[in-house]
Amino acid sequence: MRSVTKDNITDVFAAYFGEDTDPRVKEVLLALTRHIHDFARETNLTHDEWRKGLEFLEWAGRITTPERNEFVLLSDVLGLSSLVDMQHSVADATSSSVLGPFHVSNPPALEIGGDMKRDFDGEVLLVEGTVRDQDGQAIPHAQIDIWQTAPNGLYSSQDEDQDIHSFHGLMTADENGRYAFTTVRPVSYTVPDDGPVGEILRAAGRHPWRPSHLHYIVTAPGFRSLVTEVFPDDDPYLDEDTVFGVRDDLVMTYVQQPAGSFPEGFKLSGSVDGSYSRVDFDLVLARD
Ligand code: BEZ
Ligand code: FE
Repeated sequence: MRSVTKDNITDVFAAYFGEDTDPRVKEVLLALTRHIHDFARETNLTHDEWRKGLEFLEWAGRITTPERNEFVLLSDVLGLSSLVDMQHSVADATSSSVLGPFHVSNPPALEIGGDMKRDFDGEVLLVEGTVRDQDGQAIPHAQIDIWQTAPNGLYSSQDEDQDIHSFHGLMTADENGRYAFTTVRPVSYTVPDDGPVGEILRAAGRHPWRPSHLHYIVTAPGFRSLVTEVFPDDDPYLDEDTVFGVRDDLVMTYVQQPAGSFPEGFKLSGSVDGSYSRVDFDLVLARD
């Protein structure tokens, strides 16, 4: 086609596909291009704005490393990661939520009743629950990979003062699906905002805060792996998570427990004299 116009360019683009193109590739690429063309027409995008967009992508590429992926962060703050997640979630299983960039491979083993707090300051949080299927039956021996920030709001990979495995643990639930551990109560923290994504947040008058949370990846043979998080119901950022990760069923009450009531069966039993918090968070997996 040589008489390309601003009105027919999308149809011309569609006509250029080869006959052997994979149908799904064609569907996705065509829809993406249709939306990009409509976006440029709707906003009457100028050359300067188009160039600024490309410079933004270049900057995101320059800043991206194996430890920091600015494109994933962009997808997160635009709500795309959460939207894709929610499109494929299963109604009667625990909701999934964003993975984030701070998971580490080969986390250290954490026994049932084990402790991730060690000698870090902050309130002890006792976390307990059961891994179940959609019919309420316990799933024995599920693997639970858990991670969170230290009390300074930094993950181990962001903080030279922490061991890379600090606040990471891999637990195997028991034959009744039960898991339990202690940690320090997580804090709200900001996503990295010193790069191009931070510029977008500021330009949009948005903050970079996430409500405090614990991350989980739960796996068991025959079940879909679950990537999720648990949030306390009193966090000030619960209704404005900058990466849109909060779901109703992931918000739990962290119940304050009186001094002297810390139970037996934990690594910290006998050494927690003061009050502490406790959260029960059951995990429901969907069948494969
Ligand atoms: C996180 O929760 O670790 C996270 C999620 C998305 C972007 C940045 C951090
Ligand atoms: Fe996180």
